[in-house]
Formats: sequence, C-alpha cells, structure tokens
Amino acid sequence: MATATHVTLSKPIVLVGLMGAGKSCIGRQLATALGVDFVDADAEIEAAAGCTIEQMFESHGEAAFRDGERRVIARLLGQPPHVLASGGGAFVDPATRQAIREGAISVWLRADLEILLRRTARRDHRPLLKGGDPRQILQNLMDQRYPIYAEADITVDSADGPPEVTRDRVLAALKAYLQESAVQ
Ligand code: S3P
Repeated sequence: MATATHVTLSKPIVLVGLMGAGKSCIGRQLATALGVDFVDADAEIEAAAGCTIEQMFESHGEAAFRDGERRVIARLLGQPPHVLASGGGAFVDPATRQAIREGAISVWLRADLEILLRRTARRDHRPLLKGGDPRQILQNLMDQRYPIYAEADITVDSADGPPEVTRDRVLAALKAYLQESAVQ
C-alpha cells in the first residue's frame, strides 16, 4: 500500500489518452503528489526492446510493437502501486485494456484537438503522426478511440494551462472515486 497525504493506493493508476494529452507530464506530478513512483510504459518498452518505438515500427511494424506493449504493461501492473503513463494505443488493445481494468485504476486525460496538435508538434518522434496531416490523423484517432477511452474508471479534462491544474483535477477525481468505491 502506498499512502500520500489523503490517498491510499492499493493498485497502480494508469493514465490513458491520446498522444499529447499530457500523460507523462501529469503522471510525473501525480506520482510526486501521491508519494509513489512514476513509470512511462513507452520508455519501458524501448528499454525491453533495446531500440526506440520509431525503430520498432519501422523494422517490425505496429503489431509487433503492440505485442511488446501488452507484455510490458502486464508486467508493470504486477508491481507495487505507482503511476503509469501508457502509450496512446495501449488502452485500445482489448487484452491490455482488460489487464488495466483488472489490475489498475484507469484515468483518461481527455484533451481537445487544438491542445493535442500544439503539444504533439513540439517533438517529432511519433510514428503514427508521420504518415500524413497531423490534424487529420489526430481527428481520426479521436473518432476511433474516444469511445474506448471513455471506458476508463475516471475521466479528467486536460487543462490548457499549468499542469498543476490538471494534476489537481485528477487528484480530486481520484479521491471521489476511491470514496465511492469504498462505500459500495
Ligand atoms: C501511440 C502513442 C505513443 C506510442 C506509440 C503509439 C499510439 O505514445 O506508444 O507511438 O498508438 O497512440 P504517447 O501517447 O505517449 O505519445
């Protein structure tokens, strides 16, 4: 069990949402506030594979990446409570989604298209955004994935301001969720 000021976690928190939603940035802040470790699933996948996600997509294709992602996330879910930032497609994979549902509390960081576009434009390392117009690609991914992300235990809107605002929204929503789960 990990205890922070007001929250006791008995399982990991998994942040889900599209590229640019702020999963890593908010995840780090959330972990600090909760007094637990932060883990980035993409970084763990790269460490396990010994290459970057971009190289993995290039050499082996997306399906191989998803296999690795599924295995790595299943392993991480078995670790003591921590905050895990998952890659944008992880929760969309049925087996990974099921594992997260069973072994973690999932939090969808929902963000609008303009925010996602602005944030993803800062770096150029995401293979899925390289195949065409990022606005169109992100819009398509929103159409496909938002109904699935909506299955997360908690939904929080990713604010377009200081990350502390979103972190505090997640903390408040998490406390409410845990209180509600305790009375059920
Ligand atoms: C992906 C998102 C990326 C990474 C990979 C695939 C996706 O992670 O896992 O490029 O399918 O949306 P971030 O959401 O952390 O950028």
